[in-house]
Amino acid sequence: MKFPFQISTAEQLEMDYKKSISNPEVFWAEIASHFLWKSKWEKTLSWNFEQPLVQWFKGGILNITENALDRHAAITPNKTALICEPNNPSETAISFTYEELLNKVNQFAHVLKNNGAKKGDRICIYMPMVPELAIAVLACARIGAIHSVVFGGFSAQSISDRINDAQCNLVLTADGAYRGNKSIPLKSVVDEALLSCPSVKTCIVLTRSNTPVSMLKGRDMWWEDELDKVNQMENSWFDAEPMDAEDMLFILYTSGSTGKPKGVVHTIGGYMVWTTYTFLNVFQYQPNEVFFCTADVGWITGHSYLIYGPLCAGATTVLFEGVPNYPDAGRLWDICDKHQVNILYTAPTAIRSLMQAGDQWLDGKNLSSLKKLGSVGEPINEEAWQWYFKNIGRQICPIVDTWWQTETGGIMISAIAGITEAIPAWATLPMPGVQPILVDENGNELEGAASGNLCIKAPWPGMIRTTYGDHDRCRAAYFSTYPGLYFTGDGAMRDEKGNYRITGRVDDVLNVSGHRIGTAEVENAINMHTGVIESAVVGYPHDIKGQGIYAFVIVSDKHHTLDLIQNDISQTVAQIIGPIAKPDKIQIVSGLPKTRSGKIMRRILRKIAEGDISNLGDTTTLLDPTVVDEIVLGRKK
Ligand code: WTA
Repeated sequence: MKFPFQISTAEQLEMDYKKSISNPEVFWAEIASHFLWKSKWEKTLSWNFEQPLVQWFKGGILNITENALDRHAAITPNKTALICEPNNPSETAISFTYEELLNKVNQFAHVLKNNGAKKGDRICIYMPMVPELAIAVLACARIGAIHSVVFGGFSAQSISDRINDAQCNLVLTADGAYRGNKSIPLKSVVDEALLSCPSVKTCIVLTRSNTPVSMLKGRDMWWEDELDKVNQMENSWFDAEPMDAEDMLFILYTSGSTGKPKGVVHTIGGYMVWTTYTFLNVFQYQPNEVFFCTADVGWITGHSYLIYGPLCAGATTVLFEGVPNYPDAGRLWDICDKHQVNILYTAPTAIRSLMQAGDQWLDGKNLSSLKKLGSVGEPINEEAWQWYFKNIGRQICPIVDTWWQTETGGIMISAIAGITEAIPAWATLPMPGVQPILVDENGNELEGAASGNLCIKAPWPGMIRTTYGDHDRCRAAYFSTYPGLYFTGDGAMRDEKGNYRITGRVDDVLNVSGHRIGTAEVENAINMHTGVIESAVVGYPHDIKGQGIYAFVIVSDKHHTLDLIQNDISQTVAQIIGPIAKPDKIQIVSGLPKTRSGKIMRRILRKIAEGDISNLGDTTTLLDPTVVDEIVLGRKK
């Protein structure tokens, strides 16, 4: 399917950018008119960043799955929508045409309905990267339920926090998940979570790993049994629920500078327009190209560029169950060859680890199907960029370094593949509709080439609408630091041509292997260990992960060896948050550098963690400057 809003020249981009800024309503109304609506919206945009209030296409009635499935199933029923590559390469890959995927989604929509789910309900999805995950997400959207996907690496505690925050009544999971040579017992993690989730009435369990699981009568159902019931129906067509453009599509929890993750809310109409528009333009997707996004659906990249963006654009999208280094570090390249992938979208951490594994893993790989490459999730360093360009892109594939966030819904700053110039380690230019500005600490706008805190001036269709159940938190986190602006939490540089380079978070959020983790969250988890008195967590540069987690901990436990205590602390973090948040380094200290008012001087700890100990700055204002010497001496290298 061809969308007339696909930009094809630099001049057109410039013109569209200007139009989008001078008259956003006219610009986005025109683009939105190329989607399927049951009835047109009443007002294109209402906004006020003080509250904040952002509404796009309010009053418009639609269902996003009719845009992602029905319209393509009608025009190109036999086009492949989804290719699912299993964890184990010896297992057969499964593909679905648009028609087949629509049927599957309709069937599962019945399963949800049969189990009491309805419009507006919150449904938690904790699943492996299998076709049923994509089907489940779309089936929720089809019945008008709000999905909350929780990444399979999170602990029982994290799941129950998320379920309780959103008051989910249904959970979709699997017996277990395969990830590389590991099998993760998803259902038993869910069982533990559900001990403290009174709102959950039903749990539907897919068979994947054949791991023995406990099934609670009255609550737990087998996915396959529920589908069998639907298959006995004469006709499993499911009429898509009519939804308002501003109804919630999903909640996705993400870390901020406080200890508790926020439920970022996206609504249907704006998110659909934004993800489709950015997908088609940034990657310059052409009909018949195969798009492979390696992100997990548990993160925003998986939502926007594995499922919604590509499917709404009528693309062929690849869903990979496994990990890049299983069975060996050539796996991603094998998948590219096997499925003739044309566009690969992955994260710098994956690129760096495959680069480190050595170029021998590229031997015998063809990679000639690749035409365009993308990077997302963290700043890409120049060395990784060059390796990606030379070895994977054979020096002919343009690379787009796409900057965006869970809160922005889709890509905000990026090159346009093959149309605008890519600059290694620079995200480059804002997308149409995006007005980035740099401000200093006091909120003064910086002009021209400058370095500062990155804010966005005006609303774009895909932006966050609220944080679930706590609108005030949304205002406090994003709209109050610099009144009248959306504050990203990132620092950035701008050159004289208006290109942006994202330098990293300026708040207490870490980016570990492209996963967002709040330092306060990790500290809270460490402090749950009985032997811990206090802790402080900072990030430090890590060759593969981008950032590593360094924890300074004061303990009271005198009965165990330090090694054991450190392992116990790690285990506690894995239990409370998940293995992804385990500290890379734990240093047991007798005190933390605090000011006389009791505030921890993180600046000093950060420098120590980074190994930059020659100039720790002024330590005379500390309550006890000698703790700094002790910490420096005991530093973990
Ligand atoms: C960082 C992921 C530099 C940034 C889509 C942002 C990046 C956070 C880039 C959001 C990039 C993402 N260059 N930094 N191309 N992309 N980031 O919510 O710090 O998981 O604020 O969304 O990742 O992470 P999130």
